[in-house]
Amino acid sequence: MNKNVKSTPASLEDPVLRALRESAEPVSGEALAARLGLSRAAVWKRINRLKALGYVIQGSPRRGYRLLAIPDKLFPPEISQGLKTRYLKGPIHHFETVPSTNDLIKELAAKNAPEGTLVVAEGQTRGRGRLGRAWESPPGVGLYVSLLLRPPLPPTEMPQITLTAAVAVVRALRRLTGLAPGIKWPNDLLLNGKKLGGILTEMETESDRIRYLVVGLGLNVNNLDLPPELKDTATSLALAAGRTFSRLNILTAWLEEFEALYQRFLAREFPEILEEWKRYTVTLGRPVRVRQGPVEICGQALEVAPDGALLVQTGTGEIVRVTSGEIAPGPGEGPGAEDLS
Ligand code: BTN
Repeated sequence: MNKNVKSTPASLEDPVLRALRESAEPVSGEALAARLGLSRAAVWKRINRLKALGYVIQGSPRRGYRLLAIPDKLFPPEISQGLKTRYLKGPIHHFETVPSTNDLIKELAAKNAPEGTLVVAEGQTRGRGRLGRAWESPPGVGLYVSLLLRPPLPPTEMPQITLTAAVAVVRALRRLTGLAPGIKWPNDLLLNGKKLGGILTEMETESDRIRYLVVGLGLNVNNLDLPPELKDTATSLALAAGRTFSRLNILTAWLEEFEALYQRFLAREFPEILEEWKRYTVTLGRPVRVRQGPVEICGQALEVAPDGALLVQTGTGEIVRVTSGEIAPGPGEGPGAEDLS
C-alpha cells in the first residue's frame, strides 16, 4: 500500500466492541475481561482506543461500560452489522484517505480478491469520474465506494451492469430518503436537475471474458459546501432535503438493492431492469447533444437499446447508437434535466 493511503486501525475488529454491541445492559470491565480472556488493563486500553475512533462509550465505576453511539464513519464492522446481503458482503477494506477507491480495489483484484470485495474511504485525494474527470471527494460527507464483481460474462455486458448499479442507487435512495433522483444516461444521478452522484465502472478482461469489474459509486450525501465551480451543477442529499443522512444506511441499502438486481441480471433478466431504468431516466424523449470526443451529435433521445446504448435520432431522421460520451441538454432545454419528484 502506498504512502497516500491512510488505513483504519486494526482495533475495529475488537472483541470488546462486539461484546458491548451485543449487550443492551452495561457490562463491567471485570465481566468483559473474564469473558474475553483479557486482563482488566487490556480491556480498559481497548475501550480507550474505541473512544478515540469516535465510539461513545459510557463508563460507570459501579455498572460498567455501555455503547451509546457509533461514529459517523463507514467502519467495516458497522457495515457488516446491518448488511442483509447473501454474498456481496466483503471483505470490506476501510480507509480514511485513498487516492481513489477504484484504483485501490484494482490492486486487490489483481491479487485475486473475491467477488463482493468492497473498498470504502472517508475521503479521496484523486477521486476519478467518467471521461477522465476528477471526482470531488471531501472527507466524511460523501460516499466513495468500490465493489468488485467477477461476472462470468463477455466485456460487452459491462454497460448493462452499470445501468443496473444506477437503478440500485435510485431504489436505495427512494426507500431511505423519500427523495426521487433521476438517472441521466448512462448513470449520472440527478436531483433537482443537478448532479448528485455517479458511477465509474472499470474492468479488466482476458480473451473474451471479464476478468473482473469494478463498480465505483460516488454520492454527495452530507456535503453542504460545494466548490464554487460545482455550485450551479451539483447538489447533495443534505442540500436538497435540508437534513443529513446516514452514509452507512445508504451504503448498505445500495448493496442490498444491487445484490438483488445483480442476481436478476445474471439470470438474464436485464430487460426488466432496463424497464425500471427507463422509469427513472430523465434523458429519453428530450433533445440532447452528445459529445463523443471531438464529434457532437444533436437530436432527440429516442430509446435505450437492449444492450444499454442510447439511440439518438438526428435532424435528418438518422438513428445514431451512442455507447459512450457525455449528454448535454439539447437546444431549447434548460441547464440540466429535472428530477422525478
Ligand atoms: C462520474 O463521473 O459520474 C462517476 C463518478 C464516480 C466516482 C466514484 S467515487 C468512488 C470511486 N472511486 C473513484 O475514483 N471514482 C469512483
